[in-house]
Amino acid sequence: MSHLSTLQQLDSKHFIHPFTDHNALASAKTRIISRAQGIYIFEQNDQPILDAMSGLWCCNLGYGRTEIADAVSAQLNQLAFYNSFFQCTTEPAVLLSKRLSDLAPAHINTVFYTNSGSEANDTMIRFSHRYWDLKNKPNKKIIISRKNGYHGSTIAGASLGGMSFMHQQFKGLDYIHHIDQPYWFGEGGDLTPEAFGLKIAQQLEQKILELGVDNVAAFVAEPIQGAGGVIIPPATYWPEIQRICDNYDILLVADEVICGFGRLGTAFASQYFNIKPDFICFAKAVTNGYQPLGGVLISDRVSDVVKAAGDDFAHGFTYSGHPASCAAALATLDILEKEQIIERVKNDTAPYFNKRWQQLAEHPLVGEARSIGMLGAIELVQNKTTNARFPDEQAAGPVCRDKCVEVGLIMRAVGETMVVAPPLVISHQEIDDLFNKAWQALDLTAQQLKE
Ligand SMILES: Cc1ncc(COP(=O)(O)O)c(C=O)c1O
Repeated sequence: MSHLSTLQQLDSKHFIHPFTDHNALASAKTRIISRAQGIYIFEQNDQPILDAMSGLWCCNLGYGRTEIADAVSAQLNQLAFYNSFFQCTTEPAVLLSKRLSDLAPAHINTVFYTNSGSEANDTMIRFSHRYWDLKNKPNKKIIISRKNGYHGSTIAGASLGGMSFMHQQFKGLDYIHHIDQPYWFGEGGDLTPEAFGLKIAQQLEQKILELGVDNVAAFVAEPIQGAGGVIIPPATYWPEIQRICDNYDILLVADEVICGFGRLGTAFASQYFNIKPDFICFAKAVTNGYQPLGGVLISDRVSDVVKAAGDDFAHGFTYSGHPASCAAALATLDILEKEQIIERVKNDTAPYFNKRWQQLAEHPLVGEARSIGMLGAIELVQNKTTNARFPDEQAAGPVCRDKCVEVGLIMRAVGETMVVAPPLVISHQEIDDLFNKAWQALDLTAQQLKE
């Protein structure tokens, strides 16, 4: 038996994968990724595959970044671990806190560290509840989020998320309520994008009034929904959300686990949309995926109150501010700065990516091609004139995803929406490669669906 087959058998027997149908996996066989360089990953057969998902929305600077690996190694050799409890901390955790505060919008100057984006969202709830308790408004406990949003997979993260297939598998928190998503292509009907954006944002106001303003703590949303299908809200959406949060004194939370660290050509998407969140949840690209690290950036308004409380904020993780993860993040921020990646995305890479991505709209299988910064989605339809889907709602996405791999491209299927979040360091030539492979995969998908 080959080494690959042995690994696949062991995997099937012993490893429960995240978000996976294990019957389907056992028959399809796990693909084992063995190495990566630049924006390409390699399976054991050594064929390059263009990773248009940056790992899982995290390896924004590409693979093979020895500077980050070296920084982690040096830190592990110097001090592999110490905690940040009991009046202690470590140098990388302190320096990273300053660095992140400098990068964040001006009204944000503190950070709390977690190990993941899910924990960042749990932490944001802990902070929200603590803040309102300290402000003598203990009834303000409800968090409003959105259907088809994604905020992680812990109990709180999955409750915040609006994925109904997840809710069916556990008992969610009863103080989390959902409003609709600003998904114009799928749910906009006859409204213009602008009218639809306003209408959906105003659901927040209705929900606050329905639940009682004295009971609502915060509203959380991804600036662009990632896992839900790269859903880009109409231009009217975010200003209206900000107005409503200001008007009713509701904390605004931007879950920037995907959008942070340059994906839209700004350090954070909050700056792109000109919103003023009380919390920014982050993870993933903060270390370029090289170490697990997440956290919450906290506005002065909230952190001043929590810091002044006079007793413990009873929350934290063993690895809050792990020195090796913080060293990875510092090295990542060094590269972002030194190579001027955010500026390059804004002025060069994203405009080119957007130009090429929009051309996919000409393909017979594509009802809409949308993109923003370095995020793109295409809607697969059977009829381009009416945008009618294939009769089996899940027909085209999985086929297209498999055809992408066949032609050497990682593109993710979210139902009948195909999404990409390519590494920010992708070159023009590599964007052309991505476009050509996507087109080829769409051709093969159309052909198979016809058969
Ligand atoms: C917007 C958003 N929030 C939170 C999470 C959860 O992050 P993690 O998987 O690190 O827990 C994700 C993961 O994809 C995400 O996209």
